Amino acid sequence: MTRPLLLRGIRPYGVGDPVDLLVRGGVIAEMGAQLDEAGAERFDGGGLVALPGLVDLHAHLREPGREDAETIATGSAAAALGGYTAVFAMANTDPVADTAVVVEHVYRRGRDVGLVDVHPVGAVSAGLRGERLAELGAMAASAAAVRMFSDDGVCVHDSLLMRRALEYVRGLGGVVAQHAEDPRLTAGAQAHEGEVAARLGLAGWPAAAEESIVARDCLLARDAAAALHVCHVSTAGTVEVLRWAKQRGIRVSAEVTPHHLLLTDERLAGYDPVNKVNPPLRTAADTAALRAALADGIVDCVATDHAPHAGQDKDCEWSVARPGMLGLQTALSVVVATMVRPGLLDWRGVARVMSERPARIGGATDQGRPIAVGEPATLILVDPDAAWTVRGAQLASLSDNTPFEGMELPGRVLVTMLRGAITAEDGKVLC
Ligand code: DOR
Repeated sequence: MTRPLLLRGIRPYGVGDPVDLLVRGGVIAEMGAQLDEAGAERFDGGGLVALPGLVDLHAHLREPGREDAETIATGSAAAALGGYTAVFAMANTDPVADTAVVVEHVYRRGRDVGLVDVHPVGAVSAGLRGERLAELGAMAASAAAVRMFSDDGVCVHDSLLMRRALEYVRGLGGVVAQHAEDPRLTAGAQAHEGEVAARLGLAGWPAAAEESIVARDCLLARDAAAALHVCHVSTAGTVEVLRWAKQRGIRVSAEVTPHHLLLTDERLAGYDPVNKVNPPLRTAADTAALRAALADGIVDCVATDHAPHAGQDKDCEWSVARPGMLGLQTALSVVVATMVRPGLLDWRGVARVMSERPARIGGATDQGRPIAVGEPATLILVDPDAAWTVRGAQLASLSDNTPFEGMELPGRVLVTMLRGAITAEDGKVLC
């Protein structure tokens, strides 16, 4: 067993006087003023904010298949440095994670790396082709114990297939995470359909392509009494659809990305493909609606949609560049900038939207737990007053496609701890 660890002077959820916290055997053994423990390793918290470890429901770790863009090891390192202790790895790998063999491979690789809990997401349809269901039951019964299923990257467009997926996954105690995009409405789309796209001559991606699928899926989830999760909500209209559904008791949850909270389609003016993402950056009215919805709970959580891309796929002409942006190392700071500093969320709220809710939605039962005696010591220490400048080349990802390059962002993760083991400290990955 590793040595006990005494964290001195930390502020759980940023409230109250600093307390000491003793970690023994991977668990929070004691919490209180002036604790002492002979032989314990000591860490001076100096008033840092303690939060439960962050949980990301939506990351692309690219392994297997595109290890030139990211690996489970480099993605896990980026996650730990960003304050994450659990990451859900999307299924659009090569081969697709649509069988027990592939999800077990991802799960085992994540466990061997050991920096974060890697939960493979299983594909809804075989090969993400949207034709027939993948081996949902076998993935759920595998060592990876898959509970979240998604064809993310593409929409489960066929209504009957989506209905069957919801029915089947309900029986598995899981959730279907939908990439809501009507492909007929977005064929050839390059940017949010609106004034900016018209000015720049880019084919438009209409808000209704997202909103109509979310509305349909809410009705299908109602009929199946199944759990639906909406990936990367990007429009004010989707928020209204979700409000309607939640008011009626439909089992729907939703996530918003940091980039959709902060950035708008005005960024597209320079045609820099680093700003290309799917769904696209929207308008200032949309970002305002998304922030308000995250504050009032209509949008449940923040998920990164961390989407690393190799240079040749991103440093090219806009129309052929792949959509997607890095997110794991910058997410918390973007949430501090967009939600905490403007007074829309306090630190308890951050714990809710970045740890507790996503853990519940994804079924990660030992994550998103309270900071309390007897609970796993899976937590992070954050300096709320620190600021840092984002440099893509210095991030742990194998790729450097961050849209926040050169921005000074508030809030810095100083320690990440997974079941009592420090996985990242002061910008360095340990283990
Ligand atoms: O921008 C995106 N990139 N959106 C997606 O849905 C998929 C992702 C990727 O895999 O790169």
